[in-house]
Amino acid sequence: MRALYPGSFDPITYGHLDILERASYMFEKVYITVAVNREKKFVFDVDERLELIAECLKDKPWAKNVEATQFTGLLVNHAKDLGVKTLIRGVRQLSDFEYEFRMALMNRKLGDDIDTVFLMPRGELTFVSATLVREVAYWDGELTAFVPDNVAQALRKKYKQIRK
Ligand code: PNS
Repeated sequence: MRALYPGSFDPITYGHLDILERASYMFEKVYITVAVNREKKFVFDVDERLELIAECLKDKPWAKNVEATQFTGLLVNHAKDLGVKTLIRGVRQLSDFEYEFRMALMNRKLGDDIDTVFLMPRGELTFVSATLVREVAYWDGELTAFVPDNVAQALRKKYKQIRK
């Protein structure tokens, strides 16, 4: 069985990688799928986000069955194109769940019974989000506990330009 792990990944964090690794053991193939949304302002463009993901995965033995893709528009259409019937989403705490629950039911309705599997990251990553990581990076804080080195470097470079 194959699964699709969608998100903004702006940027990918240790929390995302934890969920992706768990999914890679559960499914024959996992697509990590980066959302391209013209309405939303991302810090990293889609190519940069995909490049960071590729760098994070290149030396991971568990990532052999992981492939990165991108999508625009409705997620269910991308899932249909790939022939995937299962979505993966990470939930960190109860407050994530309400939004995730609604999105899962909407995707199921739109996507011909496409189901969502929720996975939890390990405990010490439950507070890590890309939003907070960007905030820490903006103020030039320590990032090593939250993102791999390549992502930390890219964030530092990006925010140096932004702060100028
Ligand atoms: O990492 P995020 O920002 O929580 O990811 C949210 C994402 C990109 C998975 C979600 O917003 C999405 O799927 N957007 C595409 C439009 C869509 O299909 N929405 C869900 C049904 S309304």
